[in-house]
Amino acid sequence: MASFTISARAEQPANLRPLSILRDLPAVADLIEMCFSSTMDNDGKRYVQDMRRAGNDNSFLKWANRAADSTSLPLTGYIWEENGKIIGNASLVPFRNNKQRVYLIANVAVHPDHRRKGIARILTERAMQHAHEKKINNIWLHVRDDNPAAIDLYTQLGFVERARRTSWQAVTDSYAPILQTDIAITNRHPRDWQTQLNWLSRLYPDLLAWHRNWTFASLRPGFFNWLYLLFIDMNIRQWTAVRKDQMEAALAWIPDGRGEYLFPAISDRSDPVALTALLLQARRDMSPYYPKVAMEFPSTEFDGAILAAGFKSIRTLIWMQATL
Ligand SMILES: CC(C)(COP(=O)(O)OP(=O)(O)OC[C@H]1O[C@@H](n2cnc3c(N)ncnc32)[C@H](O)[C@@H]1OP(=O)(O)O)[C@@H](O)C(=O)NCCC(=O)NCCS
Repeated sequence: MASFTISARAEQPANLRPLSILRDLPAVADLIEMCFSSTMDNDGKRYVQDMRRAGNDNSFLKWANRAADSTSLPLTGYIWEENGKIIGNASLVPFRNNKQRVYLIANVAVHPDHRRKGIARILTERAMQHAHEKKINNIWLHVRDDNPAAIDLYTQLGFVERARRTSWQAVTDSYAPILQTDIAITNRHPRDWQTQLNWLSRLYPDLLAWHRNWTFASLRPGFFNWLYLLFIDMNIRQWTAVRKDQMEAALAWIPDGRGEYLFPAISDRSDPVALTALLLQARRDMSPYYPKVAMEFPSTEFDGAILAAGFKSIRTLIWMQATL
Protein backbone atom coordinates (compact mmCIF):
# COMPACT_ATOMS: atom_id res chain seq x y z
CA MET A 1 0.00 0.00 0.00
CA ALA A 2 1.17 3.50 -0.73
CA SER A 3 1.91 5.51 2.30
CA PHE A 4 2.14 9.22 2.81
CA THR A 5 3.68 11.03 5.72
CA ILE A 6 1.91 14.08 7.01
CA SER A 7 4.35 16.75 8.00
CA ALA A 8 2.88 19.02 10.65
CA ARG A 9 2.62 22.45 9.05
CA ALA A 10 4.57 25.03 11.00
CA GLU A 11 1.81 27.50 10.45
CA GLN A 12 -1.49 27.38 8.69
CA PRO A 13 -2.00 29.94 5.89
CA ALA A 14 -4.32 32.74 7.02
CA ASN A 15 -6.70 32.08 4.12
CA LEU A 16 -7.26 28.47 5.14
CA ARG A 17 -9.92 27.63 7.74
CA PRO A 18 -12.32 24.81 8.65
CA LEU A 19 -15.73 24.84 7.01
CA SER A 20 -18.34 26.49 9.20
CA ILE A 21 -21.63 24.68 8.66
CA LEU A 22 -23.49 27.59 10.21
CA ARG A 23 -22.44 30.10 7.58
CA ASP A 24 -20.51 28.59 4.64
CA LEU A 25 -22.85 26.05 3.02
CA PRO A 26 -24.58 28.38 0.47
CA ALA A 27 -21.26 29.89 -0.71
CA VAL A 28 -19.65 26.41 -0.96
CA ALA A 29 -22.69 25.23 -2.95
CA ASP A 30 -22.17 28.15 -5.39
CA LEU A 31 -18.46 27.32 -5.75
CA ILE A 32 -19.12 23.61 -6.36
CA GLU A 33 -21.83 24.43 -8.90
CA MET A 34 -19.47 26.75 -10.78
CA CYS A 35 -16.46 24.41 -10.74
CA PHE A 36 -18.33 21.23 -11.68
CA SER A 37 -20.95 22.74 -14.02
CA SER A 38 -19.57 21.02 -17.13
CA THR A 39 -19.81 17.53 -15.62
CA MET A 40 -22.68 17.83 -13.14
CA ASP A 41 -25.47 15.27 -13.54
CA ASN A 42 -28.92 15.34 -11.91
CA ASP A 43 -27.59 13.74 -8.71
CA GLY A 44 -24.95 16.46 -8.49
CA LYS A 45 -27.56 19.19 -9.01
CA ARG A 46 -29.75 17.68 -6.29
CA TYR A 47 -26.73 17.52 -3.98
CA VAL A 48 -26.01 21.23 -4.48
CA GLN A 49 -29.69 22.11 -3.93
CA ASP A 50 -29.69 20.02 -0.73
CA MET A 51 -26.60 21.86 0.45
CA ARG A 52 -28.28 25.25 -0.16
CA ARG A 53 -31.49 24.10 1.54
CA ALA A 54 -29.50 22.78 4.51
CA GLY A 55 -27.64 26.09 4.70
CA ASN A 56 -30.97 27.92 5.14
CA ASP A 57 -32.51 25.51 7.63
CA ASN A 58 -31.76 26.62 11.19
CA SER A 59 -32.77 23.47 13.04
CA PHE A 60 -30.75 21.32 10.63
CA LEU A 61 -27.73 23.57 11.09
CA LYS A 62 -27.91 23.28 14.88
CA TRP A 63 -28.04 19.49 14.65
CA ALA A 64 -25.37 19.32 11.94
CA ASN A 65 -22.96 21.49 13.88
CA ARG A 66 -22.89 18.84 16.61
CA ALA A 67 -22.96 15.82 14.27
CA ALA A 68 -20.49 17.04 11.65
CA ASP A 69 -17.84 14.42 12.23
CA SER A 70 -20.09 11.41 12.62
CA THR A 71 -22.55 11.55 9.73
CA SER A 72 -22.03 10.61 6.10
CA LEU A 73 -22.88 14.14 5.02
CA PRO A 74 -20.16 16.45 3.70
CA LEU A 75 -20.23 18.62 6.79
CA THR A 76 -16.55 18.65 7.61
CA GLY A 77 -13.90 20.20 5.44
CA TYR A 78 -11.67 23.15 4.72
CA ILE A 79 -12.15 26.28 2.72
CA TRP A 80 -9.89 28.94 1.26
CA GLU A 81 -11.10 32.50 1.66
CA GLU A 82 -9.83 35.70 0.06
CA ASN A 83 -11.31 39.14 0.78
CA GLY A 84 -14.29 37.53 2.49
CA LYS A 85 -15.08 35.32 -0.51
CA ILE A 86 -14.84 31.52 -0.50
CA ILE A 87 -12.72 30.53 -3.47
CA GLY A 88 -11.58 27.01 -2.54
CA ASN A 89 -13.10 23.97 -0.85
CA ALA A 90 -12.28 20.39 0.15
CA SER A 91 -14.95 18.31 1.93
CA LEU A 92 -14.39 15.33 4.22
CA VAL A 93 -17.08 12.64 4.38
CA PRO A 94 -16.70 10.04 7.15
CA PHE A 95 -17.72 6.41 6.57
CA ARG A 96 -17.90 3.59 9.05
CA ASN A 97 -18.21 -0.01 7.88
CA ASN A 98 -17.93 -2.64 10.62
CA LYS A 99 -14.74 -1.65 12.40
CA GLN A 100 -13.32 0.20 9.41
CA ARG A 101 -13.27 3.98 9.52
CA VAL A 102 -12.65 5.82 6.30
CA TYR A 103 -12.67 9.42 5.09
CA LEU A 104 -13.70 10.33 1.56
CA ILE A 105 -12.24 13.61 0.32
CA ALA A 106 -14.75 15.21 -2.02
CA ASN A 107 -15.66 18.49 -3.73
CA VAL A 108 -12.09 19.68 -4.16
CA ALA A 109 -12.71 22.88 -6.09
CA VAL A 110 -10.95 26.20 -6.67
CA HIS A 111 -12.48 29.26 -8.36
CA PRO A 112 -11.19 29.51 -11.98
CA ASP A 113 -9.62 32.96 -11.33
CA HIS A 114 -7.40 31.54 -8.57
CA ARG A 115 -6.06 28.28 -10.02
CA ARG A 116 -2.45 27.07 -10.26
CA LYS A 117 -1.44 28.85 -7.07
CA GLY A 118 -1.29 25.69 -4.96
CA ILE A 119 -4.66 26.25 -3.22
CA ALA A 120 -6.12 22.80 -4.01
CA ARG A 121 -2.90 21.17 -2.86
CA ILE A 122 -3.00 22.97 0.52
CA LEU A 123 -6.73 22.21 0.99
CA THR A 124 -6.27 18.51 0.19
CA GLU A 125 -3.18 18.24 2.40
CA ARG A 126 -5.09 19.89 5.24
CA ALA A 127 -7.99 17.47 4.77
CA MET A 128 -5.52 14.57 4.95
CA GLN A 129 -3.98 16.01 8.07
CA HIS A 130 -7.45 16.30 9.63
CA ALA A 131 -8.03 12.58 8.98
CA HIS A 132 -4.64 11.82 10.53
CA GLU A 133 -5.51 13.89 13.61
CA LYS A 134 -8.72 11.85 13.96
CA LYS A 135 -6.59 8.67 13.69
CA ILE A 136 -8.26 7.68 10.43
CA ASN A 137 -5.43 6.66 8.16
CA ASN A 138 -7.47 5.25 5.30
CA ILE A 139 -8.48 8.02 2.88
CA TRP A 140 -10.25 7.68 -0.43
CA LEU A 141 -11.34 9.92 -3.24
CA HIS A 142 -13.09 9.54 -6.56
CA VAL A 143 -11.83 11.38 -9.61
CA ARG A 144 -13.13 11.29 -13.18
CA ASP A 145 -10.75 9.57 -15.60
CA ASP A 146 -10.96 12.64 -17.91
CA ASN A 147 -9.58 15.00 -15.24
CA PRO A 148 -5.77 14.72 -15.61
CA ALA A 149 -5.11 17.89 -13.59
CA ALA A 150 -6.82 16.48 -10.49
CA ILE A 151 -5.30 13.00 -10.99
CA ASP A 152 -1.87 14.64 -11.10
CA LEU A 153 -2.56 16.59 -7.91
CA TYR A 154 -3.72 13.52 -5.99
CA THR A 155 -0.86 11.34 -7.26
CA GLN A 156 1.63 13.93 -6.01
CA LEU A 157 -0.05 13.75 -2.61
CA GLY A 158 0.43 9.97 -2.41
CA PHE A 159 -2.93 8.71 -3.66
CA VAL A 160 -2.80 5.48 -5.65
CA GLU A 161 -5.37 4.12 -8.09
CA ARG A 162 -7.24 1.13 -6.63
CA ALA A 163 -10.08 0.69 -9.14
CA ARG A 164 -11.86 2.19 -12.14
CA ARG A 165 -15.63 2.04 -12.25
CA THR A 166 -17.91 3.13 -15.06
CA SER A 167 -21.42 4.27 -14.08
CA TRP A 168 -24.09 2.98 -16.44
CA GLN A 169 -27.76 3.82 -16.73
CA ALA A 170 -30.67 2.57 -18.81
CA VAL A 171 -34.34 3.39 -18.97
CA THR A 172 -36.56 0.49 -17.97
CA ASP A 173 -38.86 -0.79 -20.70
CA SER A 174 -41.33 -3.69 -20.64
CA TYR A 175 -40.74 -4.03 -24.37
CA ALA A 176 -36.91 -4.18 -24.25
CA PRO A 177 -35.86 -6.84 -26.80
CA ILE A 178 -35.56 -10.52 -25.90
CA LEU A 179 -32.32 -11.96 -27.31
CA GLN A 180 -32.52 -14.97 -29.62
CA THR A 181 -29.91 -17.12 -27.90
CA ASP A 182 -29.47 -20.54 -26.30
CA ILE A 183 -28.98 -18.80 -22.94
CA ALA A 184 -32.04 -18.93 -20.69
CA ILE A 185 -32.84 -16.47 -17.90
CA THR A 186 -34.01 -18.27 -14.75
CA ASN A 187 -34.29 -17.76 -11.03
CA ARG A 188 -30.99 -18.18 -9.20
CA HIS A 189 -30.51 -21.82 -8.11
CA PRO A 190 -29.11 -22.27 -4.57
CA ARG A 191 -26.27 -24.45 -5.91
CA ASP A 192 -24.95 -21.45 -7.91
CA TRP A 193 -24.65 -19.19 -4.87
CA GLN A 194 -20.98 -19.90 -4.08
CA THR A 195 -19.93 -19.25 -7.69
CA GLN A 196 -22.00 -16.07 -7.79
CA LEU A 197 -20.35 -14.89 -4.56
CA ASN A 198 -16.85 -15.64 -5.92
CA TRP A 199 -17.55 -13.68 -9.09
CA LEU A 200 -19.08 -10.77 -7.16
CA SER A 201 -16.08 -10.65 -4.81
CA ARG A 202 -13.73 -10.35 -7.79
CA LEU A 203 -15.72 -7.50 -9.35
CA TYR A 204 -16.65 -5.71 -6.10
CA PRO A 205 -13.82 -6.54 -3.68
CA ASP A 206 -14.08 -5.87 0.06
CA LEU A 207 -11.39 -3.18 -0.30
CA LEU A 208 -13.98 -1.01 -2.09
CA ALA A 209 -16.93 -1.86 0.16
CA TRP A 210 -16.43 0.80 2.85
CA HIS A 211 -19.36 2.90 1.57
CA ARG A 212 -21.87 0.01 1.68
CA ASN A 213 -24.04 -0.71 4.71
CA TRP A 214 -24.78 -4.28 3.54
CA THR A 215 -22.78 -7.26 2.30
CA PHE A 216 -23.31 -9.77 -0.48
CA ALA A 217 -24.48 -12.21 2.21
CA SER A 218 -27.86 -10.50 1.63
CA LEU A 219 -28.07 -12.48 -1.62
CA ARG A 220 -27.62 -15.85 0.10
CA PRO A 221 -30.31 -18.43 -0.72
CA GLY A 222 -32.47 -19.96 2.01
CA PHE A 223 -35.51 -19.34 4.14
CA PHE A 224 -33.78 -17.52 6.99
CA ASN A 225 -32.17 -14.97 4.71
CA TRP A 226 -35.52 -14.48 2.94
CA LEU A 227 -37.16 -13.88 6.32
CA TYR A 228 -34.40 -11.51 7.38
CA LEU A 229 -34.73 -9.45 4.19
CA LEU A 230 -38.48 -9.30 4.72
CA PHE A 231 -37.90 -8.12 8.27
CA ILE A 232 -35.51 -5.32 7.24
CA ASP A 233 -37.71 -4.48 4.22
CA MET A 234 -34.92 -5.06 1.68
CA ASN A 235 -36.54 -6.07 -1.58
CA ILE A 236 -33.83 -7.77 -3.65
CA ARG A 237 -34.34 -9.14 -7.18
CA GLN A 238 -32.10 -11.80 -8.76
CA TRP A 239 -31.77 -13.43 -12.17
CA THR A 240 -29.38 -16.06 -13.58
CA ALA A 241 -28.28 -16.68 -17.18
CA VAL A 242 -27.93 -20.41 -17.81
CA ARG A 243 -26.65 -22.43 -20.76
CA LYS A 244 -27.18 -26.19 -20.62
CA ASP A 245 -27.68 -26.11 -16.84
CA GLN A 246 -24.43 -24.18 -16.43
CA MET A 247 -24.55 -20.67 -14.93
CA GLU A 248 -22.92 -18.12 -17.26
CA ALA A 249 -23.72 -15.02 -15.20
CA ALA A 250 -26.04 -13.72 -12.48
CA LEU A 251 -27.54 -10.34 -11.75
CA ALA A 252 -28.88 -8.86 -8.52
CA TRP A 253 -30.81 -5.64 -8.01
CA ILE A 254 -30.21 -4.24 -4.54
CA PRO A 255 -31.80 -1.17 -2.97
CA ASP A 256 -29.25 0.16 -0.48
CA GLY A 257 -30.48 3.44 0.92
CA ARG A 258 -28.18 5.56 -1.25
CA GLY A 259 -29.82 4.24 -4.43
CA GLU A 260 -30.76 1.05 -6.19
CA TYR A 261 -28.07 -0.71 -8.14
CA LEU A 262 -27.59 -3.75 -10.32
CA PHE A 263 -24.70 -6.04 -9.42
CA PRO A 264 -23.67 -8.39 -12.22
CA ALA A 265 -21.69 -11.50 -11.26
CA ILE A 266 -19.69 -12.79 -14.17
CA SER A 267 -16.33 -14.48 -14.73
CA ASP A 268 -13.80 -13.42 -17.33
CA ARG A 269 -14.60 -16.65 -19.19
CA SER A 270 -18.38 -16.04 -19.27
CA ASP A 271 -20.15 -15.37 -22.55
CA PRO A 272 -20.84 -11.59 -22.79
CA VAL A 273 -24.22 -12.41 -24.35
CA ALA A 274 -25.28 -13.74 -20.93
CA LEU A 275 -24.72 -10.31 -19.41
CA THR A 276 -26.61 -8.56 -22.21
CA ALA A 277 -29.54 -10.96 -21.78
CA LEU A 278 -29.62 -10.41 -18.00
CA LEU A 279 -29.49 -6.63 -18.27
CA LEU A 280 -32.30 -6.62 -20.83
CA GLN A 281 -34.32 -8.82 -18.46
CA ALA A 282 -33.75 -6.33 -15.63
CA ARG A 283 -34.86 -3.44 -17.85
CA ARG A 284 -38.07 -5.33 -18.61
CA ASP A 285 -38.81 -6.60 -15.10
CA MET A 286 -38.13 -3.34 -13.27
CA SER A 287 -40.13 -1.18 -15.68
CA PRO A 288 -43.42 -1.09 -13.77
CA TYR A 289 -41.63 0.11 -10.62
CA TYR A 290 -38.66 2.28 -11.63
CA PRO A 291 -37.97 4.59 -14.60
CA LYS A 292 -34.26 3.72 -14.67
CA VAL A 293 -31.78 1.05 -13.69
CA ALA A 294 -28.14 1.84 -12.90
CA MET A 295 -24.91 0.10 -12.07
CA GLU A 296 -21.20 0.62 -11.54
CA PHE A 297 -18.93 -1.84 -13.25
CA PRO A 298 -15.15 -2.22 -13.70
CA SER A 299 -14.41 -0.20 -16.81
CA THR A 300 -13.59 -1.92 -20.12
CA GLU A 301 -14.69 -5.34 -18.90
CA PHE A 302 -17.80 -6.24 -20.88
CA ASP A 303 -18.43 -2.65 -22.10
CA GLY A 304 -19.78 -3.97 -25.42
CA ALA A 305 -22.20 -6.34 -23.70
CA ILE A 306 -23.52 -3.54 -21.50
CA LEU A 307 -23.97 -1.15 -24.44
CA ALA A 308 -25.79 -3.92 -26.33
CA ALA A 309 -28.36 -4.03 -23.52
CA GLY A 310 -29.21 -0.36 -24.11
CA PHE A 311 -27.17 1.11 -21.25
CA LYS A 312 -25.42 4.49 -21.53
CA SER A 313 -22.07 5.21 -19.93
CA ILE A 314 -22.38 8.21 -17.60
CA ARG A 315 -18.78 8.57 -16.38
CA THR A 316 -15.74 6.57 -15.30
CA LEU A 317 -14.39 7.24 -11.85
CA ILE A 318 -10.95 6.32 -10.59
CA TRP A 319 -11.01 5.24 -6.95
CA MET A 320 -7.78 6.48 -5.32
CA GLN A 321 -6.55 5.65 -1.83
CA ALA A 322 -3.88 7.08 0.44
CA THR A 323 -2.70 5.36 3.56
CA LEU A 324 -1.24 7.77 6.07
C1 LIG B 1 -8.43 20.52 -10.01
C2 LIG B 1 -8.43 21.83 -9.25
C3 LIG B 1 -9.10 21.62 -7.91
C4 LIG B 1 -6.95 22.26 -9.03
O1 LIG B 1 -6.93 23.44 -8.25
P1 LIG B 1 -5.63 24.40 -8.19
O2 LIG B 1 -5.72 25.21 -6.95
O3 LIG B 1 -5.49 25.11 -9.46
O4 LIG B 1 -4.48 23.29 -8.06
P2 LIG B 1 -3.01 23.57 -7.48
O5 LIG B 1 -2.54 24.92 -7.91
O6 LIG B 1 -2.99 23.26 -6.05
O7 LIG B 1 -2.18 22.46 -8.30
C5 LIG B 1 -1.56 21.37 -7.68
C6 LIG B 1 -1.10 20.40 -8.75
O8 LIG B 1 -2.23 19.88 -9.46
C7 LIG B 1 -1.90 19.73 -10.85
N1 LIG B 1 -2.69 20.65 -11.65
C8 LIG B 1 -3.60 21.54 -11.19
N2 LIG B 1 -4.17 22.18 -12.23
C9 LIG B 1 -3.63 21.69 -13.36
C10 LIG B 1 -3.85 21.92 -14.74
N3 LIG B 1 -4.73 22.83 -15.15
N4 LIG B 1 -3.13 21.22 -15.62
C11 LIG B 1 -2.24 20.29 -15.22
N5 LIG B 1 -1.99 20.00 -13.91
C12 LIG B 1 -2.68 20.71 -13.00
C13 LIG B 1 -0.44 20.09 -10.98
O9 LIG B 1 0.31 18.90 -10.74
C14 LIG B 1 -0.26 21.04 -9.84
O10 LIG B 1 1.07 21.12 -9.41
P3 LIG B 1 2.04 22.20 -10.08
O11 LIG B 1 1.31 23.50 -10.11
O12 LIG B 1 3.23 22.17 -9.18
O13 LIG B 1 2.31 21.70 -11.48
C15 LIG B 1 -9.13 22.97 -10.04
O14 LIG B 1 -8.62 23.00 -11.36
C16 LIG B 1 -10.65 22.83 -10.10
O15 LIG B 1 -11.37 23.34 -9.25
N6 LIG B 1 -11.15 22.13 -11.13
C17 LIG B 1 -12.61 21.91 -11.28
C18 LIG B 1 -13.14 20.98 -10.22
C19 LIG B 1 -12.40 19.64 -10.19
O16 LIG B 1 -12.19 19.02 -11.24
N7 LIG B 1 -12.05 19.18 -8.99
C20 LIG B 1 -11.42 17.89 -8.77
C21 LIG B 1 -12.47 16.91 -8.46
S1 LIG B 1 -11.87 15.31 -8.12
